[in-house]
Amino acid sequence: MPEALVRRACITGIGGYLPARIVTNQEMSTMVDTSDEWIVERSGIRQRHFAAADETCAMMATAAGRAALADAGFDAASLGAVIVATATPDQAFPATAVRVQAALGAAQAFAFDVSAACSGFLYALSVADSLIRTGQTQSALVIGAEVYSRILDFTDRTTCVLFGDGAGAVLLQARDVPPHGPGVLSTHLHADGAQGDILYVDGAVGQRDRPGYLVMNGREVFRQAVTRLAAVVDEAMDANHLTSQDIDWLIPHQANRRIIDGVGKKLGLDAARVVITVDQHANTSAASVPLAMATAKADGRLQPGQLLLLEALGGGLTWGAALVRL
Ligand SMILES: CC(C)(COP(=O)(O)OP(=O)(O)OC[C@H]1O[C@@H](n2cnc3c(N)ncnc32)[C@H](O)[C@@H]1OP(=O)(O)O)[C@@H](O)C(=O)NCCC(=O)NCCS
Repeated sequence: MPEALVRRACITGIGGYLPARIVTNQEMSTMVDTSDEWIVERSGIRQRHFAAADETCAMMATAAGRAALADAGFDAASLGAVIVATATPDQAFPATAVRVQAALGAAQAFAFDVSAACSGFLYALSVADSLIRTGQTQSALVIGAEVYSRILDFTDRTTCVLFGDGAGAVLLQARDVPPHGPGVLSTHLHADGAQGDILYVDGAVGQRDRPGYLVMNGREVFRQAVTRLAAVVDEAMDANHLTSQDIDWLIPHQANRRIIDGVGKKLGLDAARVVITVDQHANTSAASVPLAMATAKADGRLQPGQLLLLEALGGGLTWGAALVRL
């Protein structure tokens, strides 16, 4: 008897975009009392990209989205949905996603933003996966895009050295595949609003006297990240009856090298199977996972049939994981 097929959201294109301006740790040390040595030792970060004054979140999201469409050879005019995960939209509304929809010429697509800070891409991927599996759309461009340089307090050395700007995108397309075939296998989302004050932006639309800066209790975020991420990757593996032996690549949120290494060790994964970009990009929040995917795609590490474990944690707290076969 032929194997029953299942409807899956399959990744058919991956793309990224980074602003041209690179800011090294050395340059950061001219702004605040810090050093390359301290930043590398505590976070693994060596440099980050910052957007130019006229570069917007929508522009970066569009560039990454366009790269993902080109990678798939997919015409924007046929696109069913555009979903942008961002905590740094250019405007309260309209959503960044509709600016991207217009810029791409994706006239048939519905479009909206997802707000879940550094977990935004995982949340957006989960929503897009559901929309595709329930037949609401045949395709979705899922983008993470951030301009954190606009919400950093450049007098606070404990936060401003840790973040960067960028965008990453994946194109998801509906496919009917065998159960062991490609696609998003499962997504696992969590939130703990009681921890909302350990990582937040102290301003908002309507507070005209406050630009809104990122505030973080780094130690507490670190503590939460290690335990929450370890639990959610176990949850994802158990749900699919998989072990770390089955994983080709762990593609974690790129916040801190020590957190990434902790999750890799917990899984018993060889460090060579973990995609690391935090040294080059710093923490680009919702953009970090798709940007890391784009990096590994561009250098040939990602290949069809491979199993990816994605995970992220961020402000909210929000956190999540996803298992995806390419
Ligand atoms: C932020 C983080 C790197 C700080 O590392 P840490 O080992 O906890 O460092 P501490 O906060 O204990 O600070 C240690 C010392 O370094 C100092 N320090 C802080 N930032 C510094 C910087 N950029 N340069 C130099 N010194 C710095 C502190 O003032 C402190 O000095 P003190 O002992 O004289 O008070 C770490 O807590 C972390 O990575 N947290 C998670 C952050 C994260 O991933 N956030 C995003 C999640 S989406």
